[in-house]
Amino acid sequence: MLYGHFDDDRREYVVTRPDTPLPWINYLGTEDFFGMISNTAGGCSFYRDARLRRLTRYRHNNAPLDLGGRYLYLRDDVDGDYWSPSWQPTRSALDSYECRHGLSYTSISSERKGIRADLLCYVPLGETLEVWRLTVSNDRERRADLSLFSCVEFCLWDALDDATNFQRNYNVGEVEVADGVIYHKTEYRERRDHFAYFACSEPLAGFDTQRDVFLGPYRGWDSPLAVERGCSFDSIATGWAPMGSHHVRLSLATSETREIIFVLGYSENPAAEKFDPPGSQTIDKTRVRPVIERWLMPSEFDRGLRVLRESWDELLSVLKVETPDPDTDRMVNIWNQYQCMATFNLSRSMSFYESGIGRGMGFRDSSQDLFGCLPMVPDRARQRILDLAATQLDSGGAYHQYQPLTKRGNDQIGSGFNDDPLWLVLAVSAYLKETGDLGILDELVPYDNAPGTESPISEHLERCVRYTLDRLGPHGLPLIGHADWNDCLNLNCFSEIPGESFQTADNREGGVAESLFIAGQFVLACQELAAVARLLGNSDRAASLEADAMAMAGTVEDHGWDGEWFLRAYDSFGEVVGSHANAEGKIFVETQGICVMAGIGVADGRAAAALKSVRELLATEHGIMLMSPPFTRYHLELGEITSYPPGYKENGSIFCHTNPWIMIAETILGDGETAFDYYKRTNPSARAAISDVHRCEPYVYVQTIAGRDAATFGEAKNSWLTGSAAWHLTAITQWILGIRPELEGLRIDPVLPPAWSGFTAQRRWRGATYEISVQQEKGSSGRVRWLEVDGTRVEGNLLLPAPAGSTVKVVATVEPA
Ligand code: GLC
Ligand code: GLC
Repeated sequence: MLYGHFDDDRREYVVTRPDTPLPWINYLGTEDFFGMISNTAGGCSFYRDARLRRLTRYRHNNAPLDLGGRYLYLRDDVDGDYWSPSWQPTRSALDSYECRHGLSYTSISSERKGIRADLLCYVPLGETLEVWRLTVSNDRERRADLSLFSCVEFCLWDALDDATNFQRNYNVGEVEVADGVIYHKTEYRERRDHFAYFACSEPLAGFDTQRDVFLGPYRGWDSPLAVERGCSFDSIATGWAPMGSHHVRLSLATSETREIIFVLGYSENPAAEKFDPPGSQTIDKTRVRPVIERWLMPSEFDRGLRVLRESWDELLSVLKVETPDPDTDRMVNIWNQYQCMATFNLSRSMSFYESGIGRGMGFRDSSQDLFGCLPMVPDRARQRILDLAATQLDSGGAYHQYQPLTKRGNDQIGSGFNDDPLWLVLAVSAYLKETGDLGILDELVPYDNAPGTESPISEHLERCVRYTLDRLGPHGLPLIGHADWNDCLNLNCFSEIPGESFQTADNREGGVAESLFIAGQFVLACQELAAVARLLGNSDRAASLEADAMAMAGTVEDHGWDGEWFLRAYDSFGEVVGSHANAEGKIFVETQGICVMAGIGVADGRAAAALKSVRELLATEHGIMLMSPPFTRYHLELGEITSYPPGYKENGSIFCHTNPWIMIAETILGDGETAFDYYKRTNPSARAAISDVHRCEPYVYVQTIAGRDAATFGEAKNSWLTGSAAWHLTAITQWILGIRPELEGLRIDPVLPPAWSGFTAQRRWRGATYEISVQQEKGSSGRVRWLEVDGTRVEGNLLLPAPAGSTVKVVATVEPA
């Protein structure tokens, strides 16, 4: 069944029925203030940090699945009929329903018994608030006397404490209601200097701020007493559960339309100016009042929305393609780039699957997320690199995550993942290729945020590489530490305690497990750093890095080849992992991808053999599985990977993050047909027709799709905040379409499916615009060996940087090998 369709011209996904298989989510906000919003208005909002500055409550894993959000109720004051125009939470029958998820805004429109309601929500650029506009129209042939109730449930700021510490929290909640604005000020009396507010553009008939008064005893959000009886209680919350609800009466003549605006925001006051009058406990509203007044104005709403649209026009103008395949075009031009910005902004913090509590900005995750958003926001990417590097330890190692609010690294979700630092090298190298800004290498940032330890980024990168070399195991391969990219391959944990987190469990002393993944990643990182050193004229350092890469590649060839594919690891006892010799977990995808990407085995046929094994043993119609066969029982010596039932998560699902590595590897070997075939299998738009199987949003990539051995083969989970986004964009744009920034120029090296006759693209790079037309004789395949640049033939396929502001016309012809 289809639950909606794409509206590419408006860059929207249109959900056409509310009961999607899972909540289909969108995000509001791109800077400091964020909201998650589902197709039935579920979700919550936060300022900067989903854990430490949560404004509104959302209870994950609820029943029904998606409950808590930006809820409105309309009530017919003549007959008492009431409903939610976004369907949830009353789930009353609607005569029409449509949700449009756009770029950082969502609209939900519906109709019931002649009353039309359109809700549109977004976060204005530069503000720490969200605005909602509700347009209500009366299509009836008689006057409609309606009541409108808004509601949000406030979170007491720290989302973890809010969900656990009830003996305190039932006592601390505080609000103020002034001039129709509801202020949430829990803990403002003591150490907080921030508060939330919820305002409405209309005169109020009443309000509520105490949830359980609004709802009434033993009632839920689907039948609040205030709504049922058609009148608020004007409750003032002290303790219990502060909420915000406005009651507005609307009397609409036939065909009359009214616009009501709500503003939900976050505000801070300087410590010395918290109270007005000084000495009182009343919030000083001098700063916030004008902000509220401004955003309640319909003209500001329209202007803010226009500015937001223009900013997305600008961001998405950096890269545009026109290929023979509509699923490719809409993902590349709109949704995949959009998702990359979401992962850049939120890392793995808040989604339908991420509670916003456990995980802040992942070191490895945020480094990889940069690949996807660099062309759009190079300056913000630069800052992110500096922030990440400042959490690096002086050993070269990394905290696995840092908290966005404080930008400080912490061990809360584990440490000692030995792949972490190498991702920073790859991120910086991608940044240099995009921007040419070599100056970043001289930027001084500390280790572990400790003042006095500042050293240039170039030195940070050196320590990343050294970190691996300082930790080699019995075969000369990198020690895996707690885990590598695969968080769940915990070869040194030996966890026997029920419920213990594998991610934070202590490693057994002296663990010697080795990772072939880190080996491949190290080769790649050294090659990248060597290229930078060469560019800087440091040929000695370049040569030694190249020697390190060669040596490690040799070690992989000697100890990492299983005969038909690359091994995955050596466990703590020196036993092979990911070998034909294993009963289960014979082949893993990660090493086939990363080793080929690092060029290992490309010259001698091993790479081709490895990719053939992937095709035969791991590829399914839903994508490429992480490993096979999955483990059917728990293995103490392998860790969390064996904790999952077969076919799920790391235990043999289609872990989408890794699929682009194989696509890239296929292009390196020149097989555009297979690369693109894989690309289509995980492309969410191409999977829209099987939404009842896939179940997640058809407009964003997911982390996993259940593997062949799972009970629900093809079912997706963990959409939105995943490295799949950045890597899919990289694979399709840089390797299949082949428009690839390098240090010295823009490479045009497409490896296309033979059925294509070419494509066109527009790419802005280092200030110049390249209008690229790639032509291929249908049915043939090959590579581009020369370019026509503004009408002149240039040998090779590298475009040197053109002057900023200029437009360069490029024609590239794919020639059969
Ligand atoms: C999750 C993590 C990522 C890890 C992957 C594989 O997606 O966010 O860091 O690499 O799982 O375990
Ligand atoms: C679990 C997941 C893995 C994720 C990790 C993060 O191990 O399986 O994908 O990266 O948690 O803590």
